[in-house]
Amino acid sequence: MKSDTMAKLAGGWAVPLGGDALFTWDYDAGTEQMLNLYSRGKQRQWDAETQLDWSHDVDPDNPLGLPDEFIWIAGTRVWERLPEAERTTVRQHIAGWLYSQFLHGEQGGLVCSAKVVQAVPDIASKFYAATQVMDEARHVEAYQRMLQAKIKVHYPISTGLRGLLEAIIGDSRWDITYLGMQVMIEGLALAAFSIQRDRMRDPLAQALNAYVLQDEARHVAFGRLALRDYYSQLSTAELREREDFAVEACWVLKDRFVGEEMWRKLDYGAEECIALANRSPAQREFRRRVFTRIVPTLKDINLFGPRMQESLRELGVLGFSRVDGAEISAEDERIADEIARLEFATRQREVSAVIAVGAGSDDGDDDCEDEG
Ligand SMILES: [Fe+2]
Ligand SMILES: [Fe+2]
Repeated sequence: MKSDTMAKLAGGWAVPLGGDALFTWDYDAGTEQMLNLYSRGKQRQWDAETQLDWSHDVDPDNPLGLPDEFIWIAGTRVWERLPEAERTTVRQHIAGWLYSQFLHGEQGGLVCSAKVVQAVPDIASKFYAATQVMDEARHVEAYQRMLQAKIKVHYPISTGLRGLLEAIIGDSRWDITYLGMQVMIEGLALAAFSIQRDRMRDPLAQALNAYVLQDEARHVAFGRLALRDYYSQLSTAELREREDFAVEACWVLKDRFVGEEMWRKLDYGAEECIALANRSPAQREFRRRVFTRIVPTLKDINLFGPRMQESLRELGVLGFSRVDGAEISAEDERIADEIARLEFATRQREVSAVIAVGAGSDDGDDDCEDEG
């Protein structure tokens, strides 16, 4: 990933925008599928301010209700050595690091979807992408509130996420914005949010992520729809460039999201903690969910040539091409709908019950993972 185009600002970050803004005079164009997606995008906006119960008090020692099995170093020698007060710090910092990355990633989604509005050639896709801009703004709002009011530990953007965003936003080819954001980063988001929805014990964290997930499932569907048509027209050489981009992003997703900055800050032997985290069962579940979401989409959009399959085999994730991505997305919507029907006052027990029933749906298939 390039880093020479990055310029840091006080309190911000400037990334040059590649590409042209396209106008169309054909205001009637658009496939039925795209217009349907636009309708759903309009109708399914929710308001984090009223939809979620912000009066709920999280446990300050463990704001997400993070089970020990999701602490990357739990069960290791390093963990056994830590006194209880330090373990509390780890729980708070994992929540802070994760939700900070969610927040920065959502801002990335906001910037990328705004770029898509400008760069996509047809009017129906511009309409749809405009609904996504609003979705991502609402997500930024919700994660910021969760961090500010409940978690209270903040981290800057991780190097892995920053590199991905920079490569996506700076590329002048419009489809790379889709491929990078709608397929790769949204795939990462779907995996991370579904773990929050299904495995955390705090009902606010569960509900927030369930609502966000139903929107993200729509965003992936948009990328799939647009890229499937476009990639069927590209030459072998052009497809190969896209496959290389996707493979590079897959490696980043596989190895670079284990809280590196956090382990350096906590200082229990950062390199050892990062290595332990990379081998942990929590990371294994995360990877399984990431590639359950991404690999079927790559196949669906025709980025599945022999070289791509070989790279996915090397990554140990080729088996996920057998998963039905559309079915998992439908399940995300169903769970969010069901949670929305419940009153929060009585929700703590019921949310967990709904999630327990649905959780199995996102587990993909353990047999799909090729690595040991
Ligand atoms: Fe989002
Ligand atoms: Fe999104």
